[in-house]
Amino acid sequence: MPFRRVLAAALLCHGVIAGPSGPVADQTQVVAHSAPRKLHGRFLHITDIHPDEYYKVHSSTDEDDGCHRGRGPAGPYGAETSDCDSPFSLVNATFDWIDANIKDSIDFVVWTGDSARHDRDEELPRNPDQVLGTNRWIADKFVDMLSDKGDKGMNIPVVPNFGNNDILPHNILLPGPNKWLQHYSHIWRHFIPEEQRHSFEYGGWFHVEVIPNKLAVFSLNTLYLFDRNAGVDGCASPSEPGYKQMEWLRVQLQFMRERGMKAILIGHVPPARTDSKMLWDETCWQKYSLWMHQFRDVVVVGLYGHMNIDHFIIHDKDEINIAELEGSEFGTREAMDDELSTQSASDYLMELRSDWAKLAPPPTSGKDVNDEGKRKKGKKRKDPWGERYHLSMVSPSVVPTYFPTLRVFEYNITGLEDTPLWREALQESTQSTANTPQKHLELRQSPPSPDDSDLDLDFETDDSITATKKKNKKNKKKKHGKPKNPPPKHDDPNLHIPLPPSKSTPPGPAYSIQPLTLTGYTQYYANLTHINNLNLTGAAATSDANEKGEDSGSWWGSNSDWELEWDGWLLRWRKGKHGGRKPTPRPAPPREFAYEVEYSTFEDKIYRLGDLTVNSMVGLAVRMGRPAGGKGVVDTSTTGGGGEWEEGEDEVCDNEDDDYEGDEDDEDDEDDDDSSDDDGEVETEKKKKKGKKGKGKKGKKRKQNKTWLHFLRHAFVGTLEKDDLENFS
Ligand SMILES: *[C@@H]1O[C@H](CO)[C@@H](O)[C@H](O)[C@H]1NC(C)=O
Ligand SMILES: *[C@@H]1O[C@H](CO)[C@@H](O)[C@H](O)[C@H]1NC(C)=O
Ligand SMILES: *[C@@H]1O[C@H](CO)[C@@H](O)[C@H](O)[C@H]1NC(C)=O
Ligand SMILES: *[C@@H]1O[C@H](CO)[C@@H](O)[C@H](O)[C@H]1NC(C)=O
Ligand SMILES: *[C@@H]1O[C@H](CO)[C@@H](O)[C@H](O)[C@H]1NC(C)=O
Repeated sequence: MPFRRVLAAALLCHGVIAGPSGPVADQTQVVAHSAPRKLHGRFLHITDIHPDEYYKVHSSTDEDDGCHRGRGPAGPYGAETSDCDSPFSLVNATFDWIDANIKDSIDFVVWTGDSARHDRDEELPRNPDQVLGTNRWIADKFVDMLSDKGDKGMNIPVVPNFGNNDILPHNILLPGPNKWLQHYSHIWRHFIPEEQRHSFEYGGWFHVEVIPNKLAVFSLNTLYLFDRNAGVDGCASPSEPGYKQMEWLRVQLQFMRERGMKAILIGHVPPARTDSKMLWDETCWQKYSLWMHQFRDVVVVGLYGHMNIDHFIIHDKDEINIAELEGSEFGTREAMDDELSTQSASDYLMELRSDWAKLAPPPTSGKDVNDEGKRKKGKKRKDPWGERYHLSMVSPSVVPTYFPTLRVFEYNITGLEDTPLWREALQESTQSTANTPQKHLELRQSPPSPDDSDLDLDFETDDSITATKKKNKKNKKKKHGKPKNPPPKHDDPNLHIPLPPSKSTPPGPAYSIQPLTLTGYTQYYANLTHINNLNLTGAAATSDANEKGEDSGSWWGSNSDWELEWDGWLLRWRKGKHGGRKPTPRPAPPREFAYEVEYSTFEDKIYRLGDLTVNSMVGLAVRMGRPAGGKGVVDTSTTGGGGEWEEGEDEVCDNEDDDYEGDEDDEDDEDDDDSSDDDGEVETEKKKKKGKKGKGKKGKKRKQNKTWLHFLRHAFVGTLEKDDLENFS
């Protein structure tokens, strides 16, 4: 812990706003030439750049103008908090900033799509040359930035991914091979391993060994899993590309397991799914969830974009339902963007929150668990690592739907100090054409059917599946009963359930700290309000939505394409916080462009995330989901997810009781648990908090939603005002 703190502090002091003279820059000198590059334990996640070749500075952010014409508050680096796309200046400035501050301290880049403008301007409909053109431009920018001058080839790998706006018409990608996949196979030729280019043209999915023989990034083509893609139909039928992709993923992850490798999965559209809404086709979501559970020893995390909102999703294996998986059942969820104007980002996030309230709290601290997964104080807790859950992390965008953002993850590289890197392996493989043959096998026979003893999915019996068919939650919980270990029952000959980890396999990097475990991330943002330095006149139109008689009148009230779009057209356009205002005749020049730290999970005093393991994230979610107004909000009978948690139950209940007091007490608990962490700073912090405790009902009440409000502030990249946030609680 102290080590991590020091590391994080060092990063914050230097890495973050490190100019050319920072330690990061020093490394450049060493790294740029012959000296072998070493792993840094960091990578960049960049998503939803949306460059717009028609963006015009000082144009209007009104719906009819869309930052393409008129006179208004469109800033030199973009129109923050509006539905306008990114000016090229923002893209250039972003790459320049990465070049100067990030690129020499990372091991690879994941780039999760949407590198073209939206198709929202009736006067300027998109054409394929434009969509492919901005994609080619961004791809080439990566290659230029990451290659040394006069040298061919990049120093570190970039793993790209399709966005729903990277094709035409948007959302609709027909099964491959097709011309889009062909074009991208060329545009991404520096990124897709040579031997996978052929299969890429069939499906658009591929993987890259970003750390050879250790870690692969799997680029999923989420357009074949996306409910809005009318060109395909889910993942249940073998003729569908979604089915084929899941088969590929199953076979490849099994190879990864056999080779002792780990995998990060990336995609554009996240597997977001709440009680009423979803983004993926249900059969794809079911399969993905099942795969993630079975490969929990292999998969580190899933990283996604598309939604622009900074958040994370915790998936529970209890949501897996073989009946839905077979495609015989239609869920009652609506595609997320069909809810129209009454639904919004806030509804989605509040639904997530109520789901979090039902999570089984993890052991109070990872330190309570020893190496055998036994609780230190004695009895063994079932699932001490939270292996019933898996995690998707959704990064906010570069396009200033809120503010432009970048995310730099850190991961554990203990023992990997001298491992050969991607570039070296690439050079080797181009010298000798002999590649590991197994790796490139196309779909082979499915692994033998797992026998009962191996299969430790606690599936419901057939009648409980029937009972849940109508998605009746109460029934489901009642039927849960004692844990059972039957093989999942299904009659589908096309359903090949992946093998689970072998009994002797220790928990994977998503669950226990080990090499390749994500330790945290730093979230960067560019405050365009400050940087654009606009001198505007007139009153901002904050309430034109009200004039139209719609709900929430705030500029943030609706959200971007993931929910309010129908066939490409936003149902309610966001003009941004400056909407309706105009620049003065001679506006001031913009300030110097820079990303700065919005927050870092290493330092965030409210999140208190020691790492990004599933237990840590579940712990955070439980803190946010806890009943804010008292016991009534959450049905405590469902907490803990049913019978299989019996052994841990008293622990769970203890936690509950403590937790009703609010975040504050939780903080105290942790400090008590964890005296090694109590350096002076934490101690003072704790005392301050304790001092405030007596402040009476009002102060305490506000505390109750503290972590949640903090999360919301991040979700919208710091653009919401206090009053806006209160609408979420
Ligand atoms: C962005 O950079 C490119 C060079 O990579 C340059 O040609 C172009 O003019 C720049 N655009 C803007 C708006 O700065
Ligand atoms: C990395 O993992 C090793 C165990 O493999 C652990 O001892 C070490 O503390 C971890 N480092 C960090 C920074 O989490
Ligand atoms: C962004 O800059 C503006 C203007 O300087 C400032 O008022 C605002 O608080 C800043 N927002 C954030 C999240 O830093
Ligand atoms: C902003 O514009 C107003 C109106 O034109 C002007 O009075 C004011 O001096 C300007 N402020 C700055 C800082 O330029
Ligand atoms: C906290 O959030 C809950 C649930 O959204 C809400 O019912 C409650 O009123 C909030 N409490 C405060 C003090 O804002």
